[in-house]
Amino acid sequence: MKVCRRTTFNSAHRLLNHNWSDEKNREVFGKCNSPNYHGHNYVLETWLEGEINPDTGYVIDLGILKGIIKEEVEDPFDHKNLNLDVPEFKTLNPTAENITVVIFKKLKKRLPEFKLTVRLYETQNNFVEYTEDY
Ligand code: NI
Repeated sequence: MKVCRRTTFNSAHRLLNHNWSDEKNREVFGKCNSPNYHGHNYVLETWLEGEINPDTGYVIDLGILKGIIKEEVEDPFDHKNLNLDVPEFKTLNPTAENITVVIFKKLKKRLPEFKLTVRLYETQNNFVEYTEDY
């Protein structure tokens, strides 16, 4: 059984590779490299796969999942500048791909008993997904 919690957060970022020159960063990342940052309304889907607990009828109490996502993602990321405010992106380029892996690792630590899939929409049409194999 798979269950999902949808979460939104708003963050600013700037794409860049710290090992490259300004010119190469502009060439590769274009507008996404604008020095004054830009924002996205991110939509996060957190999918958990597990058995239905026969006592509760739940895979997980979604209120508990909501609280974990708030602590691990919303509180540190929402209304923040990912490059400047979030330690994980001090040197890691905050692409949707890298943000998703960072979120996955944070949530996996809190939810080790479930098969976890994280899907992140950076725009309505662009989204990435990271999961694990068993
Ligand atoms: Ni962007």
